[in-house]
Amino acid sequence: MVRYIRYSSSVYYSPHDLKRLEAALFFYYHKIEKALSLPIVKPLFGLGYIENTLKLVEQWVQLTGDYDAVVFRGAYSALVSYKSHVGQSLQKSNPKIYERLEQLIFEYERPDIDLNLGGTLEIHNENLTTNNRIQKFEELIRQRHSVRVFTEKHIPDEEIYNAVKLAQHTPSVCNRQCWHVHVFTSDKDKTKILQHQNGNRGFGHLADRVLLITADLKCFFTSGERQQPSIDAGMFAMSLILSFEAMGIASCCLNLNLNAGKESAFRKTALLSKWEKPIMLIVIGYPPKSLKVAVSARKSIESLLSFRDLNN
Ligand SMILES: Cc1cc2nc3c(=O)[nH]c(=O)nc-3n(C[C@H](O)[C@H](O)[C@H](O)COP(=O)(O)O)c2cc1C
Repeated sequence: MVRYIRYSSSVYYSPHDLKRLEAALFFYYHKIEKALSLPIVKPLFGLGYIENTLKLVEQWVQLTGDYDAVVFRGAYSALVSYKSHVGQSLQKSNPKIYERLEQLIFEYERPDIDLNLGGTLEIHNENLTTNNRIQKFEELIRQRHSVRVFTEKHIPDEEIYNAVKLAQHTPSVCNRQCWHVHVFTSDKDKTKILQHQNGNRGFGHLADRVLLITADLKCFFTSGERQQPSIDAGMFAMSLILSFEAMGIASCCLNLNLNAGKESAFRKTALLSKWEKPIMLIVIGYPPKSLKVAVSARKSIESLLSFRDLNN
């Protein structure tokens, strides 16, 4: 709780802290693209969000000068989409904001900005048959098991890079993407990290890499969001292990349920920033051709699925 209060953006916020500024900009500009993707898009909407987005984009440019950052390009493109949607209605109802919007778009225009990075995207589902998709997904999700035996074959960095890139498609609150993946490779580092975790005995030492998933508390703005770091980074971890599975890389998640004292020792070993929340470890490696995995039987579907009707 103390860490959340101290290091999330719920109490302390300053645009000079670029991580906080980036999260705030994602937060506000996402409201625009989200509104543009609704079944019914109002002719004019979101003046509050627009003002904040304009202010944050200006701050971003002033403080970083980074026109290449995804957050800048996404926000810029979302503002262009917004302007083309609201056009005349905004000009008539709020000429001041319209002018600011127009000026910002003009001033920050760059020839290489891909306007598809913000706003909305048109997708077509008719080419993918539902059968094909579900079959592939079912295969992938049924074939994944927590693996606790690995070969000595080394995983190239590029494979990890590709898996993380795929896992980035995980949804997150307002697209804030709080997650971070730390990869430990040397035997010394892997041992140092794994000794803080009690569930890897008998197999952790066989892993080619030890991954630590963390969440950045600066991405969160209210006390109500206090569980969100674990939710978003947890979902990311799920995508990551499925990506690894699809690439033939086996994995086993390892809990980091540490009490305050143990977490503090772990932080020191992993050299974590104060605003990084450790979520879980994942050990990965190539699996042998044949191996045994724990069955880990699933509960009956009836015990966890309820179709509810609150009026009866
Ligand atoms: C967050 C998390 C923490 C876990 N921690 C451990 C652990 O410390 N040691 C371990 O051997 N397995 C661990 N597991 C693996 C679970 O035991 C395993 O996912 C579960 O039995 C279901 O089996 P399956 O992954 O093969 O489907 C963990 C899984 C998750 C999602």
